[in-house]
Amino acid sequence: SNFQHLSLLFPKGLDSDESYEGVSEASFKDALVFDSSRQKNNGSVPQENGIKKHRTSLPAPITERCYATWELSKITMPIVFNEPLSFLQRITEYMEHTYLINRACSMSDSIERMQAVAAFAVSAVASQWDRTGKPFNPLLGETYELIREEQGFRWVSEQVSHHPPVSAFHAENLAGDFVFHGSIYPKLKFWGKSVEAEPKGTITLELLKHNEAYTWSNPYCCVHNIILGKLWIEQYGTVEIVNHSTGDKCVLNFKSCGMFGKDLHKVEGYIQDKSKKKRCIIYGKWTECMWSVDPHTYETHKKSEKKGDSKKHKNEEQQGAENDDADDMPEVQETVSVIPGSTLLWRIDSRPAHSATMYNFTNFAMSLNELVPGMEAILPSTDCRFRPDIKAMENGNMDDASKDKERLEEKQRAARKERARNQEEWSTRWFQMGTNPYTGNQDWIYTGGYFNRNYQDLPDIY
Ligand SMILES: *[C@@H]1O[C@H](CO)[C@@H](O)[C@H](O)[C@H]1NC(C)=O
Ligand SMILES: *[C@@H]1O[C@H](CO)[C@@H](O)[C@H](O)[C@H]1NC(C)=O
Repeated sequence: SNFQHLSLLFPKGLDSDESYEGVSEASFKDALVFDSSRQKNNGSVPQENGIKKHRTSLPAPITERCYATWELSKITMPIVFNEPLSFLQRITEYMEHTYLINRACSMSDSIERMQAVAAFAVSAVASQWDRTGKPFNPLLGETYELIREEQGFRWVSEQVSHHPPVSAFHAENLAGDFVFHGSIYPKLKFWGKSVEAEPKGTITLELLKHNEAYTWSNPYCCVHNIILGKLWIEQYGTVEIVNHSTGDKCVLNFKSCGMFGKDLHKVEGYIQDKSKKKRCIIYGKWTECMWSVDPHTYETHKKSEKKGDSKKHKNEEQQGAENDDADDMPEVQETVSVIPGSTLLWRIDSRPAHSATMYNFTNFAMSLNELVPGMEAILPSTDCRFRPDIKAMENGNMDDASKDKERLEEKQRAARKERARNQEEWSTRWFQMGTNPYTGNQDWIYTGGYFNRNYQDLPDIY
């Protein structure tokens, strides 16, 4: 049997820094070190046209998830189940398809704008595909910034709370066309064979020229087979994108794979106007592409499809035997079948060939932890790029990564105890708890000033 993920089962002490609802983790001392062959670091260099070229691979490939020894007394999650990115960097991947927001800004028709926003909301979670590596939990006060002139945005984020873990972010278009902000509180639940992450928190997109604001929450994300079998990722749940100027909305249903895997990765939904009239149907897969089509064409197509369908079902039922051991990922069925008359809203970029040996990262993800020469002098010392554990893992030094991770967590615990002793409160630096003007709910609001680069009195967290 395969009990690689057993450590997840062990409840942790109250002092633990990384426990959520029965899911526990710390560090694992005896993870074997595989001295992975180093790849040449192709760092960012300014090109002749002034546009920066970002690195397209990591310094070292993934270390095999394989162990010789176990130390079960130390309740820990082996670092080999991580990926060398902080959760703050992982959520920055929402910005990979920023061109969809730019497209929304440029549309004069409001339904077309909503379509582009819906495509952006789906594309924002597409990087999760096959990414079973767990990002590092950000330390309290950790920050991450990303400036992408060619995509026209800058982003800043901060870990604003540790218990519960809350990450706040704020992005803005460099030409002032949009702001995109939110706070994410990934609430994990342990379901025996799987871990489910509920992405609590609201995401807000404001299209400034159009005086429009849209809000939504991400779908649930589930990692299957944490005890045995092959890890795989499913996203499901309803995502409602609301236009707060009118109350018009787009409803997107991320389908769970179902008994026979027929709906694996499927997303279906519609845009309705304020009189609740459906204006268009949106469909596709979050791993592949999204299309839109008018509701009439869609219904007609569904009816004609149903006629030829009843035979198929019998065969599928016989294959769907219950399996007590592992919930294997159903085979990915045909690609999205396009209804004639549909418009393509978004298609995923293919991942680079070396992605498979690099945590299944996209090109965008490969570049996120790159410390470009010259950055050290500019970035605040709290930036994720300076985290020694992530850096060590990125370089394939699993032993150092594991030790550093443990040290940072211990340092964080000690700092918390010290604050408690002095009756000091932690104060966040770039975000403050406030009210989201559109939803009326509590939200973390950017207080500004990060890019003035005045970084005095930063906490020493590494
Ligand atoms: C990457 O994707 C492959 C193919 O689906 C999968 O077998 C593997 O476990 C994934 N690796 C990671 C680190 O998630
Ligand atoms: C959103 O609200 C604005 C402002 O009232 C309105 O003009 C627009 O039509 C709405 N957009 C959608 C997609 O419903």
